[in-house]
Amino acid sequence: MSDKESPESVSEVSEAQIAVHWGEEEYYHPSTQFIAQANMTDADLYERFSLEKFPECYKEYADMLDWYEYWHTTLDTSDAPCWKWYVGGKINASHNCIDRHLAQNRNKAALIYVPEPEAEPHQALTYQELWVRVNEFAALLRDFAGVKRGDRVTIHMPMVPELPVTMLACARLGAIHSVVFGGFSGKACGERISDSGSKVLVTMDAYYRSGKLLEHKSKADEAVKVAEDEGQAVENVLIWQRYPGQYHSETPLVEGRDHLVNDIIGQYRGQRVEPERLPAEDPLFLMYTSGTTGRPKGCQHGIGGYLAYVTATSKYVQDIHPEDVYWCMADIGWITGHSYIVYGPLSLGATSVMFEGVPTYPDAGRAWRIAEQLKVNIFHTAPTTVRMLRKAGPEEPAKYSYHFKHMTTVGEPIEPEVWRWYYEVVGKGEAAIVDTWWQTETGGFLCSTMPGLQPMKPGSAGPGMPGIHPIIYDEEGQEVPKGAGKAGNICIQNPWPGQFQTIWGDRERYVNTYYAKYCKDPKSKKWQDWPYFPGDAAVQAPDGYYRILGRVDDVINVAGHRLGTKEIESACLVVPEVAEAAVVPVADEVKGKVPDVYVSLKPGYEASEALAKKVSEAVSDNIGKIARPAHVYIVPDMPKTRSGKIMRRVLASISNRADVGDVTTLANPDIVEQVRILVQGN
Ligand code: WTA
Repeated sequence: MSDKESPESVSEVSEAQIAVHWGEEEYYHPSTQFIAQANMTDADLYERFSLEKFPECYKEYADMLDWYEYWHTTLDTSDAPCWKWYVGGKINASHNCIDRHLAQNRNKAALIYVPEPEAEPHQALTYQELWVRVNEFAALLRDFAGVKRGDRVTIHMPMVPELPVTMLACARLGAIHSVVFGGFSGKACGERISDSGSKVLVTMDAYYRSGKLLEHKSKADEAVKVAEDEGQAVENVLIWQRYPGQYHSETPLVEGRDHLVNDIIGQYRGQRVEPERLPAEDPLFLMYTSGTTGRPKGCQHGIGGYLAYVTATSKYVQDIHPEDVYWCMADIGWITGHSYIVYGPLSLGATSVMFEGVPTYPDAGRAWRIAEQLKVNIFHTAPTTVRMLRKAGPEEPAKYSYHFKHMTTVGEPIEPEVWRWYYEVVGKGEAAIVDTWWQTETGGFLCSTMPGLQPMKPGSAGPGMPGIHPIIYDEEGQEVPKGAGKAGNICIQNPWPGQFQTIWGDRERYVNTYYAKYCKDPKSKKWQDWPYFPGDAAVQAPDGYYRILGRVDDVINVAGHRLGTKEIESACLVVPEVAEAAVVPVADEVKGKVPDVYVSLKPGYEASEALAKKVSEAVSDNIGKIARPAHVYIVPDMPKTRSGKIMRRVLASISNRADVGDVTTLANPDIVEQVRILVQGN
């Protein structure tokens, strides 16, 4: 059965509705020094990528890659809305991210790894060393685990260099990797193994977080069990070790299934695996993300289009030059890490820094010490981290002598006040900032200023990227013109190479979720009839800049992580005492939004702190700590409509200390005041 995400399921409480409506801000201009060195200062760029020149304009991006065979069709729309890019082309992502740089840059650092313990030395992996390790692990995957082109490989790993090594080894073989964020639970990992049909799981024994070596391997046992219960057998669990040769987990290895990579990699020393010459539209990876209903969906990204898009945007928007030290502080387990730690930077032959730990451990100066030590000059993070660092150590950046030329913010709206701290204090007034709006589904940036061409405006993402043509529609499909001062649903009028190809195994859900709402003709094979609807609300200022307000569906963006409220609700319902659960987004000073949980109990059970804790733990166990509710309120009953629907809007107003509005038409209006007192006190 497919999870239909019809437009009718659009939430009654959305992030966008409770978004802060900031005023219009002043422009900030990039420095002349920045402009003088910027990769992209060609004012004709947008004209070159106009709708009239679409789709052929995107040849420019694909020409940044190495092709075994050149493509014959830039965009094939015959299977609309599953778009195919650069059809006829043959390519390999691992070759593009590694091999092609060897002749000129064999000894250049591809990755610089910063372990969390400050006493541990940094590790620089040259392109040559990366090539050696990827070849050996690809040989192991192929010859030991039987992985071949088209197979899915689930990877549940922390931020260690072995993670990109594993991804690139899969890419070399044409296997489709599915990286699950390391902080997700074993159960969440198991569900993704099952959905993707992976027979191989690659994991690690342990990793550091906030000063503790956290055991991780037991999650693999749970994941395999969950997948097996759902009918997906895992044949091989390959376990990297945080310290090769030492096993930091209490859980035993399962005979015949679990293998320590360190024990077997020796057999593959010196082995070389020719990169597979793959059709451009073969899938490169799946990345699961939360939606309105049902389980997370596997966004399927293709090789040629995705790689072309992230390479070009890394060059133009991230402004990465060969001599730069680029640090994106995201986790590779999210799309930002895939596109802008691994694939984009490595395809450009850049030096990409990866950090194992949290930026506030052991203190709020850690990130700035790393920047100083490594001479990082391009810095990339999320508003939630900026807020956290601003709160924990507003004076810290000034103590360190790093200099950024460029900074990125990604993943959530950034408050103008927070933006200004980022600009003045972190960037020391020297760095150009880009606020990049995009999604797991979109592969790369959709809206951002071009840093050498356009001024910045705090709180605004900027115009559409070259070749990305946004449009804001109202609920009826009428265009909301720029400067109208009204919000609407932002859509993209055209496909682009970085866009995902479909939802793994569920084309119907893909069409319903992203296209059904504004499709002009479901039978059409013309891209013009298929505007892409990302699920965000936005306003467009008179200058054409877009301000993104947040999700219009049942998705909450918690500290830059996307979580489905329905997923959290179903985790609460796992607790036997719980009768009903409702999850609402609440504004939070640091994390942007956090989930508040309301539950009512089955008859015969009493509310208690222990029970609230049990609900909270059920959420962390089923999804991961990132989903843990801010509060769990056990209420005598849920406010409901006469037809029995839970009024989440009312609960959200109570949690956000806003006016609940007119509740007289509810089936049980009196409950509202009871719940309000329970939450807010008198
Ligand atoms: C939100 C993260 C405002 C948005 C790359 C989107 C943003 C969701 C921005 C995707 C931004 C992302 N300003 N909101 N610059 N960037 N978002 O899939 O609601 O984890 O739909 O991808 O984050 O989250 P995802």
